[in-house]
Amino acid sequence: MSTIAQAERGTGQLPPPADNAAWSQLSEQTSGQTKTDLETHLAFIGINKQYTIPTGAVQALRDVSFTVGRGEIFGIIGPSGAGKSTLLRTINALELADSGQVLIDGVDVGSLDEAALVKLRRGIGMIFQHFNLLSSRTVRDNLGLPLRVAGVAPDRIRARVDSLLDLVGLRDKADVYPAKLSGGQKQRVGIARALVHEPGILLCDEATSALDPESTQSILGLVRDISRRMGLSVVLITHDMGVIREICDRVLVLDQGRVVEQGEVWRVFGDPQAAATRALLRPLLHGVPTDLATQLVDDLEAVAKLPRRCCGSLPYYSYCLRHRA
Ligand SMILES: Nc1ncnc2c1ncn2[C@@H]1O[C@H](COP(=O)(O)OP(=O)(O)OP(=O)(O)O)[C@@H](O)[C@H]1O
Ligand SMILES: [Mg+2]
Repeated sequence: MSTIAQAERGTGQLPPPADNAAWSQLSEQTSGQTKTDLETHLAFIGINKQYTIPTGAVQALRDVSFTVGRGEIFGIIGPSGAGKSTLLRTINALELADSGQVLIDGVDVGSLDEAALVKLRRGIGMIFQHFNLLSSRTVRDNLGLPLRVAGVAPDRIRARVDSLLDLVGLRDKADVYPAKLSGGQKQRVGIARALVHEPGILLCDEATSALDPESTQSILGLVRDISRRMGLSVVLITHDMGVIREICDRVLVLDQGRVVEQGEVWRVFGDPQAAATRALLRPLLHGVPTDLATQLVDDLEAVAKLPRRCCGSLPYYSYCLRHRA
């Protein structure tokens, strides 16, 4: 058992950052890579994961290494079966790597005991394509349940749920059942539920895939606003390259379990190197004249170089483009 696990066994407290050379090295790389010199929040070091199935073995992740900065919105893309969901689930230890490490603030997730894992998972919110709301509970009860399970007092639950409903703009839907909500409203409840324990990390697995374009825009705006206001680090999987272009700072491309490309969105989308990236981007640029495609990449580059918070909490693209000149 590692020293971290020994120190923490049974306490439920997260251990201090590991004294880990790989962590330090990856942290330095992160600060050099990002436009805002973000501090490293998550580090993946040489992750391998294999599943055994009746017909043999599936290598879902192969030597995956990258970092996510604190407060960053980080996209993961790749063809179906590339290993995206498996990778995302290693963050909250729903999947354990066969080898390699996932470090959160320098703490090795694989070294935690059950009590420490419960605490870790409360600090990581997750939203999904299919919302996963309880149909027999009202919106208020869907949000209050995880707090009740955690032993929070009823008056504090009520106050917390009210403030979450305000945050996602659904105060008037508190006593409604999920069946009476639109897809976009259900995902707003999903986001509010993911935030009940005031997490530092939000994981999104195809969170806008079931939504129409207008609801997608409003959910992306909400995620971006929450990330900025709360300093949340967001790791987001999507098949929609428009979502990555709209909201992410950096993107990583997985193909057959391997990282084939990663970097700032404008750089990767502007000059894709891997065949898998080019295939994913094809629908995005299909039919767009070359000069317009070049202009789009120039715009992305200009926005990427602007300070992230130059105008407070207004939406990122519209206000930053106004300040370009
Ligand atoms: N629990 C499991 N048991 C066996 N094989 C699995 C399991 N989970 C995932 N796999 C396999 O691992 C590989 C990666 O799966 P994963 O779900 O991570 O891909 P993905 O990139 O999220 O795909 P999609 O875009 O379709 O959601 C696939 O070949 C999948 O069949
Ligand atoms: Mg998946």
